[in-house]
Amino acid sequence: MRYSVEASLWHPVAASDDVAEAPVAVTLLEQALVLWRDAQGAVRAMPDRCPHRGARLSLGRVCDGRIECPYHGWQFDHQGQCRHVPALPGFVPPTTHSVACHAVQEAYGLVWVRLQGAGGMLPAFAAEHEPALRTALCGPYDVASSAPRVVENFLDMAHFGFVHEGWLGARAHTAVPDYRVEDTPTGLRAFDCRAWQPQSNLHSTAPALVAYGYEVTAPYAALLTKEPPPGTTAVAGWREAIGLFICPVTPEYSRVWFRLAVADVETPDDALRAFQHTIFTQDQPVLESQQPKRLPLDVRAELHTAADRASSTYRRFLQRSGITFGVC
Ligand code: FES
Ligand code: CO
Repeated sequence: MRYSVEASLWHPVAASDDVAEAPVAVTLLEQALVLWRDAQGAVRAMPDRCPHRGARLSLGRVCDGRIECPYHGWQFDHQGQCRHVPALPGFVPPTTHSVACHAVQEAYGLVWVRLQGAGGMLPAFAAEHEPALRTALCGPYDVASSAPRVVENFLDMAHFGFVHEGWLGARAHTAVPDYRVEDTPTGLRAFDCRAWQPQSNLHSTAPALVAYGYEVTAPYAALLTKEPPPGTTAVAGWREAIGLFICPVTPEYSRVWFRLAVADVETPDDALRAFQHTIFTQDQPVLESQQPKRLPLDVRAELHTAADRASSTYRRFLQRSGITFGVC
């Protein structure tokens, strides 16, 4: 197996709510995995391949806290050890009859998996734990492009007047005011971003100059914080935040979630999601049209202006980090 920088990072692979009684098949960094919940309710992640004759474990079922292969019914416990071979009821499987488990944790409404290594932090999303904000998960979106292209789209303000005309931007206001970017240990931070927006959120009634901050919190994760529009009451010390969390499925295919943390307690989840859905489905066709699908790290491969400095900083960060998946 090829180990890489990417394999030692935590990646989101599924919404927590989607891993219930039945096993779930997912793909992370081109590896097929099965997710299932053990008797304690903890999510387990294993290669989606039975070590007996190679059938997909995700086609099986979970019974008595074990995952059962669909082919000959071998059962594996929460640590991947085979406990039962139905064709030989008296047989006690040795420790070699097992499947390797990957590290798993649940956070921000998502199941996170790390394929190799130890430790490492999840991308930060402090708004998740702020009691005054409520959260909602939006997605997944299956996008035919690399995770880094999706991150760049999220950081990009120069497309608002075109891709999101009438929503996040207008053709009469396409200038991107100067903004600042600095490197951080997990990526970058962009400050003093401002955009003139006709309909910046669900409740906008008039166009406003909206102030933004962006942060890249991991190679395939980013965060947007929006300052409250003038005249609205903000929860003290908090702004609305959107976390972008991406599963790098293959180098040219991604599964994307948005974690919304908002001060608005009245709007139903579906309405919050619908707004985000409208915006992202405007982005998706353009994003999928970009060639190459892998993000070029060679500065000469594409053209850049000062308005793109967040994207240029992100590309340098990926290069510095030794990321190879989804870039070229
Ligand atoms: Fe899984 Fe035989 S292939 S039990
Ligand atoms: Co967009």
